[in-house]
Amino acid sequence: MKEKLLELKENFSKALESTSNTQQLKELENMYLGKKGLLKEILAGIKNLSNEDKKTIWVESNELKVFILKKLEWKSKEIEAQKFEEIVASEALDVTAEFPSKDLGHKHPITTATELLEDIFISLGFKIEDGPEIETDKLNFDMLNIPDNHPARDVWDTFWISDEINEDKELWEKYLLRTHTSPVQIRTMLKEELPIKIIVPGRVFRYEQEDARHTCNFYQLEWLVVGEGVTFGDLKWTLDTAMKSLLWEDTKTRFRPSIFPFTEPSAEVDVSCQICKGTGKIKEKKCSMCSATGWVELLGCGMVHPKVLTGCGIDPEKYSGFAFGMWIDRIAAQRFGVSSSRMFYQSKLKLNEQF
Ligand code: DAH
Repeated sequence: MKEKLLELKENFSKALESTSNTQQLKELENMYLGKKGLLKEILAGIKNLSNEDKKTIWVESNELKVFILKKLEWKSKEIEAQKFEEIVASEALDVTAEFPSKDLGHKHPITTATELLEDIFISLGFKIEDGPEIETDKLNFDMLNIPDNHPARDVWDTFWISDEINEDKELWEKYLLRTHTSPVQIRTMLKEELPIKIIVPGRVFRYEQEDARHTCNFYQLEWLVVGEGVTFGDLKWTLDTAMKSLLWEDTKTRFRPSIFPFTEPSAEVDVSCQICKGTGKIKEKKCSMCSATGWVELLGCGMVHPKVLTGCGIDPEKYSGFAFGMWIDRIAAQRFGVSSSRMFYQSKLKLNEQF
């Protein structure tokens, strides 16, 4: 019987070598270890042996069974690995292959304008910050000195996140789509050491009546500088320098006094309209970009309000700062001579491809 077991082992090993798929492995297992398999067949003769021999044959046949199972498992792994290699080889991509490409994609004008602005500000030593598009009421309004019931809240017609999310929350912790990039000022002042010198490009949302200058979703660039001895003069210098690099030599800027709850004093800055060259007219028709005024409002700015600084743990007696909020869409429209920034969102390839 011992010889039969040895023979079985040899035959099995040979048969295993010629298997090449899992189906064949299954068949082999059945053939050797199945209910009516070869091992069972040999063991059928065990009853005629002495007790002593029975024991050794049991042990040996068990070892053989373990041996067969192990070999089958290894082979199965080998087959899997080979299969995987074949897939890898057959699906390999040649990344160096050349395709005849006709229309290469290119950057959206708003991205181009944003990158232009980033370059200018990085060269002035600013750092780029980022913030979430879904913001809390506290950061979007409260900490910017716009408490609940403040009339300034009306200016920012707001998209609130659905009631289920906000239902059980106090007003200040409710979520909304940020109406401006200004909350990133707060986020930065709360976490960074002074002095701070940042810009924040980002997408903002308002429930707007759409026209040539207004869209429900647009892009802003926030600037913030906080440190010792920062003055309104620094604000003007930074603005002039940035505008000179960004727009054209003959661009005029004008400051108008304004009110923002988070700055004091505050101003709005207009540039002479690049579309109608400040005349308010295009071919005897009213310029829609500047509503025929010859000026386009580009940004709001001011000295950071002491209450905002205090709220972020900064002593307004010792430190001061200035901030800006700029409309990137309008910059892009001015820079590229597009008469309505709304056109940037209409997926008009003919328009976008020009820049
Ligand atoms: N957050 C204002 C808005 O969206 C714009 C703004 C005005 C930002 C003055 C500022 C600022 O940082 O100082 O209308």
